[in-house]
Amino acid sequence: MAVAPLSLANIQGDILFGLPKQSQSFFLFKIDQPDAFRANLANLVPLITSAQQTKSNITEIKKVKLSQKLRANEGDGEAVHPDIVTVSGVNIAFSAKGLEKMGIVGDLGDFLFKSGMKEGALDLGDNMRQLPDGAIQPDWDDAFLQEIHGVGLITGDSHETLNQKLTSVKDILSNSVQEIATLSGDVRPDDQKGHEHFGYKDGVSEPAVKDVESFKPGQTVVDQGVFLLGRGDDAFQDRPSWALDGSFMALRKLPQLVPEFDKFLLDTAGTQESADLMGARFVGRWKSGAPLMKTPTKDDPELGADANRNNDFKFKANDQSGCPFAAHIRKMNPRGDLGESSITSHMVLRRGIPFGPEVSDEERKSNKTTQERGLMFVCYQSSISSGFSFLQQTWANNPSFPFGTTTEPGFDPLIGQTSGGGVRTMTGAFASNSSQPLNLLAQWVNSRGGEYFFSPSIPALRDVFAKA
Ligand code: HEM
Repeated sequence: MAVAPLSLANIQGDILFGLPKQSQSFFLFKIDQPDAFRANLANLVPLITSAQQTKSNITEIKKVKLSQKLRANEGDGEAVHPDIVTVSGVNIAFSAKGLEKMGIVGDLGDFLFKSGMKEGALDLGDNMRQLPDGAIQPDWDDAFLQEIHGVGLITGDSHETLNQKLTSVKDILSNSVQEIATLSGDVRPDDQKGHEHFGYKDGVSEPAVKDVESFKPGQTVVDQGVFLLGRGDDAFQDRPSWALDGSFMALRKLPQLVPEFDKFLLDTAGTQESADLMGARFVGRWKSGAPLMKTPTKDDPELGADANRNNDFKFKANDQSGCPFAAHIRKMNPRGDLGESSITSHMVLRRGIPFGPEVSDEERKSNKTTQERGLMFVCYQSSISSGFSFLQQTWANNPSFPFGTTTEPGFDPLIGQTSGGGVRTMTGAFASNSSQPLNLLAQWVNSRGGEYFFSPSIPALRDVFAKA
């Protein structure tokens, strides 16, 4: 049977466009009463924000910003921060255990989703800890060590809008679930809006989904099937019909040691100017988002903000004079190192948000993190083993990737992990001698847990998951 053309009204809004947000909560829950839960879902479905609604919310926000002469274009690919328009969003996703608990029949055919992130924590390089009885478990927050069945994603332009919506969602589900935790994040304030906690502009490079959105110079146009189930090679595969237009979501809580990261750069590089360059070489972009490949010696904020230019570059194979092989954006999207088709199948749609307070004067002075902050990382893909897990394990954690270079690249300095605190090194950090290795001394991003979820289509939620 032919698959009907894609309809934005059927897809949850966070997947294709990203729910516009200033603040977001992740409501992690366990289903106690499956029948009551499925009955409650019928009342929740009308609150779910579709891709169509999200698209029109984004258009409206951009229009208002433009009319108020505020910067409407926030980097493209980047999440849209509503700040002056009242808007909220609701999406929902389920773990494999959650689907099982609800009695939803059918195999989505993704072994990593099925076994859950906790099972794969060691493979991802997460730190592990030994319990008194000798058992080993990931060194994660308690919330993620529990059996999580689902997550509600609630977004808003302010805490007030967000909390109102969160209360409605919790009220609807209350007699059927147990709350495990509600984790929240906020877009950073003022000139740091859109920047993650190390200070770099985030959401600059994002694939354009074919026939869904237009694309900018240098942006890769990627088949819908890389992100949505049933829209690619698997369209006629033996998957349940309710899988169509759903997507797998990887959620990771990633605390960042910001003062420690800054101190390392300054101690290693010697001056603030050299530290800024070394930091840019860790990321592959300056703090403004400007790519090193276009401006290798100094930041260029105009370039960073220009979506028509800030992705229009490629890396030079076997050459890290312009940008280290191990730089985060080169590990994650080795454009120019590999052929395009070897990269696109691993692309993901990133939808994270920073969490935690700004660095305090005290932390800055002592070079020590005392208040937890970082990134609630979220990404969508149609296969976890080709998407998130591949990027983390096969590229970021692999010192030999990109393969075939004369000098060994080393670890992604931002997210490359060696479980058990093994030494991480990289080359290319020193612009003056790009083959000189650098011992990274610490790991500044340490995962505290996460889970894999399935974000179903709205018809699947309404007609299959919900019960009248
Ligand atoms: C705290 C953790 C992280 C931080 C601070 C971080 C930071 C950044 C920054 C600053 C950029 C450049 C801006 C942009 O192109 O959007 C970026 C790009 C990217 N990151 Fe991360 N990131 C983190 C975690 C991750 C993880 C866990 C993954 C996947 C496993 C990932 C995948 C990507 C991808 C795919 C890109 C785009 C590369 C491109 O197309 O050029 N990031 N990240």
